[in-house]
Amino acid sequence: MASKYLTGVGSESKQLATWYFTFAAILFGAQLLFGLVAAIQFIMPGFLYGVLDFSIARIIHINALVVWMVFAMFGSVYWLLPDETGIETVGIKIGKLLFWIFAAAIVVVVLVFLFVQVGPADDTTIWFITEGREYIEAPRWADWGIVVVALGFVGNLFLTGMKGKQTGIVTVLMADMIAFAGLYLAGMFFTDNITVDQYWWWWVIHLWVEATWEVFVGAIAAYGLIKMIGAHRKVVEMWLWIEVAMLFGSGILGLGHHYFWIGTPEYWWEIGALFSALEPLPLVAMFIHVLYDWGKTQGAEMAKEGATEDNVKSVITNKPAFTWFVLNAFGNFLGAGIWGFFHTLPQVNLYTHGTQFTAAHGHLAFFGAYATILIGMFYIAIQGTNGIKVMHHTKLSIWSTSLITGGMMVMTIALTIAGYVQVLVSRAEMGATWAAYFDGQGGVWFAQAMDWRLIAGIVVFIGYILLATDLLTTGKNPVHEK
Ligand code: HEM
Ligand code: HEM
Ligand SMILES: [Fe+2]
Repeated sequence: MASKYLTGVGSESKQLATWYFTFAAILFGAQLLFGLVAAIQFIMPGFLYGVLDFSIARIIHINALVVWMVFAMFGSVYWLLPDETGIETVGIKIGKLLFWIFAAAIVVVVLVFLFVQVGPADDTTIWFITEGREYIEAPRWADWGIVVVALGFVGNLFLTGMKGKQTGIVTVLMADMIAFAGLYLAGMFFTDNITVDQYWWWWVIHLWVEATWEVFVGAIAAYGLIKMIGAHRKVVEMWLWIEVAMLFGSGILGLGHHYFWIGTPEYWWEIGALFSALEPLPLVAMFIHVLYDWGKTQGAEMAKEGATEDNVKSVITNKPAFTWFVLNAFGNFLGAGIWGFFHTLPQVNLYTHGTQFTAAHGHLAFFGAYATILIGMFYIAIQGTNGIKVMHHTKLSIWSTSLITGGMMVMTIALTIAGYVQVLVSRAEMGATWAAYFDGQGGVWFAQAMDWRLIAGIVVFIGYILLATDLLTTGKNPVHEK
């Protein structure tokens, strides 16, 4: 479905980006559907029992999450590369071929999760059904496929970055994406010691979301600010370098906050406490960066002669995308920064570990830090593929943004309350015994929070349907300026 507006330098790269975005958007929908199934099972444990058990619904929910985000991240890079480097992506034909291999592999993995589900306790299960490491549960054959695709992607990025104009954004992405792909290897080898296994598994999970993915977000935000509000590249890239230094500075040893209770030496308490407590700082910087640039650009327009409210607003060339970028600044700060900080000190984590509090943080952080900005990138691609100069909000974009964001906030609050009940009843009052674990979940506050999570989930899903409809139809909507 090549668009007539995707012509000239970089059109192939942008077309590949749209494939990645499309597949990502579909997987996002699948993620939400399986989340709903898991949420219903919390309330009615017999729901789909024996057909689609909680363990499988949960696996698909969180793996689809990771995969759709990785697809959307690859798509974002293929989209912005020609804009930044001024040339077509080098090796784009191979990039396109790898997309199909990647997409086919993911479909097969999901079908096996759905229809085979479990296998014998030996190597065949690891190779063909699941490797069993939360969030990256794909079997080993798929792991190797992913490694090949990631190498091709990094190859595209490096060859293009070296041949074309090398902006700060491209340089940061080159360094970041090689770390991102390389870390995946830490989640691939097998050991029969669960502590060692968890130790390395966190290298993927934590170092991805709290180091390499956050740096990616910094780079995308920088690109978006230049593109959508005409922010000055010099200022934006200066911020980007500061953020990169702070993110890696705190995020790498912040890894210690997952080493409190898995059997690693006790010095991780101090290391984890100190460095992970610093992790919200770069998120504050990213937050200020977006709002500062926005204010500055608008201020400059306001100061111009003859400026009115209306023509100042039109400085933003893509309103739905920019809304999602601003939500990203807030969401990243709240979900990762605040909700992360809540439970990051070992003294607090002793009580919150393994409660719904973790899930509250996990939901708001993944949503706030990543889903938001990636949805923003979907809109930037829609703008480009439809040759739109200024993209306005539509009724659908306003409703979908509000329902998805509002729903996720309510879900987070419900899960936080559930976690609080578990901390008080299961841990503080009853002393973390087996009976306490069940008592904590038997109470009315916990049960009601689970109901609210489901209600909020349904709202998010309705928002998703509206979002998908908007993405499919907005290109032809006459409200936009061509
Ligand atoms: C966008 C960035 C982030 C994302 C997507 C994210 C996501 C998550 C998720 C999904 C978990 C649960 C992992 C599991 O299944 O065990 C988790 C755990 C945790 N996160 Fe984050 N997080 C982010 C940033 C942060 C930050 C900045 C902090 C600290 C300031 C933090 C502190 C923690 C802690 C302490 C845990 C362990 C909770 C426990 O097991 O007791 N996170 N995070
Ligand atoms: C329709 C909306 C959603 C519903 C009903 C839902 C429901 C659920 C349920 C029931 C679980 C299992 C919790 C447990 O094991 O205790 C879960 C886990 C998780 N979900 Fe969702 N979810 C939804 C949307 C999302 C979104 C939009 C994201 C991120 C962008 C997300 C990220 C996660 C993560 C990271 C976990 C693992 C958390 C952990 O282990 O701490 N979910 N979700
Ligand atoms: Fe972490």
